[in-house]
Amino acid sequence: MSKPEEIVLRRPDDWHLHLRDGEVLGDTVSASAASIGRALVMPNLQPPIVTVDMAHAYRDRILIALKHSAPSGAATNNLFDPFMALYLTDHTSRETVAEASRAHDVLAFKLYPAGATTHSEHGVTDIGRCTEALEEMEKQGVVLCIHGEVTDPAVDVFDREAVFIDRVLIPLRKRFPGLRIVLEHLTTAQAVSYVEEAEGDIAATITPQHLLLNRNSLFEGGLRPHAYCLPVLKRERHRQALVAAATSGNPRFFMGTDSAPHSQARKEVDCGCAGCFTAPYAIALYAKAFEEANALERLDDFCSGHGADFYQLPRSTETVRLRRESQLVADQWPFGGQRVVPLLAGTRLEWTLIGSQSVPPSA
Ligand code: DOR
Ligand code: ZN
Repeated sequence: MSKPEEIVLRRPDDWHLHLRDGEVLGDTVSASAASIGRALVMPNLQPPIVTVDMAHAYRDRILIALKHSAPSGAATNNLFDPFMALYLTDHTSRETVAEASRAHDVLAFKLYPAGATTHSEHGVTDIGRCTEALEEMEKQGVVLCIHGEVTDPAVDVFDREAVFIDRVLIPLRKRFPGLRIVLEHLTTAQAVSYVEEAEGDIAATITPQHLLLNRNSLFEGGLRPHAYCLPVLKRERHRQALVAAATSGNPRFFMGTDSAPHSQARKEVDCGCAGCFTAPYAIALYAKAFEEANALERLDDFCSGHGADFYQLPRSTETVRLRRESQLVADQWPFGGQRVVPLLAGTRLEWTLIGSQSVPPSA
């Protein structure tokens, strides 16, 4: 079969996105709004988004930033529709969950085990402390998005996801079998098997970096901070399991970029932050992974179908087009007064989104 020159997708949704706040918001929002329809915006700000009122105020700031963002993104700006996740803590009340369930623009709670990742210090110290909130989430059908890694320092960093499934996730799902769960940013074959085989309402997001890179990329010719995220990249066999899952057509797997910008200065430093910035190139990156697996025909369901179905929202009626046209990943992207370096900066991608911002807006 000849290779397609163009792909038409329903407008994709990003079900795991970090936009940050303050002066960087215009840059982060416009990087996603150029290609994305709906997004689930992560709540790990400082302080974290723990109430519905805070989520609404944050959503308003996002929409204002969008309105004022670079004119080159203007044509598509009005299509960007952020949904919010609230940050689960040891103290999240039943009432907060009930209120969230009534707010049409709040879709989920996010469980960060305390200490697992960036800005997780207010996260859950012991899932046993969240019984009330989890009961209410189960009752109301509110989704729990999970950063699935244990924080036990005795557990090897490459094993933290697999150990989380055994120690935390399986017991949690026994206690709350009706709880709707998204296991975020899968990185291992064990997580793929678990999500494929588990009973009940469970799904998972997969990032572009975990589809395209294995852990060798962290050390290619030296330390590579821009490929460092959490959960950390794993062995090649895990990457292959993730590609197989994403391209299988199984509706439990869908797009969530986990695009997580940190300034260049905070990445290229002793003790650099975790997070890969992929937002401006996300669809082209996923297209690369799907094409390498000969599965371009499944890209639409993964990027634009399965996630909306899981979140019980209609699939988008808008479309975006990708053309087979080489583009260079920019060396840097504006980030407030600073810069952020995209994943795979300086390399070429074969697919380009037509009519979108594929070059950084001038700062
Ligand atoms: O690499 C990551 N960065 N993983 C996370 O879980 C959080 C994220 C961030 O917010 O920077
Ligand atoms: Zn994240």
